[in-house]
Amino acid sequence: MSIQSCVEVRNEWDIVSARQLGRNMAKELGFGTVDQARITTAISELARNIYLYAGHGKVCIEAVEEMGKKGLKIIATDKGPGIRDIRKVMEDGYTTSGGLGAGLPGVKRLMDEFSIDSSVNVGTEIIATKWIR
Ligand SMILES: Nc1ncnc2c1ncn2[C@@H]1O[C@H](COP(=O)(O)OP(=O)(O)OP(=O)(O)O)[C@@H](O)[C@H]1O
Ligand SMILES: [Mg+2]
Repeated sequence: MSIQSCVEVRNEWDIVSARQLGRNMAKELGFGTVDQARITTAISELARNIYLYAGHGKVCIEAVEEMGKKGLKIIATDKGPGIRDIRKVMEDGYTTSGGLGAGLPGVKRLMDEFSIDSSVNVGTEIIATKWIR
């Protein structure tokens, strides 16, 4: 059984709510402050992309356990325009803002596991997991 909580993302305040949910769950699971910051940064980037490019979607945070390892999974989904060239957006330096999170390559770096499933005109699902060490 896994525990999952979701935040709908429609506006900038929802991005803050998603971050707070992630921080609370990360803290409860026993992640240290540095990993809590990595997780909340990753959530911000994914929620902001949903807000900017899809307009609406959701971010779910799940407590996971696999072969004795405990971790936190971020599942960001939307039914927006999708990403045409995934390989290109995963190249460092492609992102526009150059902020702390550095977009999707940044999310991949901050987390331990990362996957994108996206289809044009269907939507995008991004899953990223961090394990407690
Ligand atoms: N959920 C999404 N739906 C549709 N397109 C997306 C989505 N997320 C990202 N993209 C596309 O992928 C590109 C790269 O996203 P990424 O977050 O890496 O960089 P960015 O948003 O352009 O810049 P930054 O995040 O650094 O401000 C975006 O410019 C956008 O075209
Ligand atoms: Mg972005």
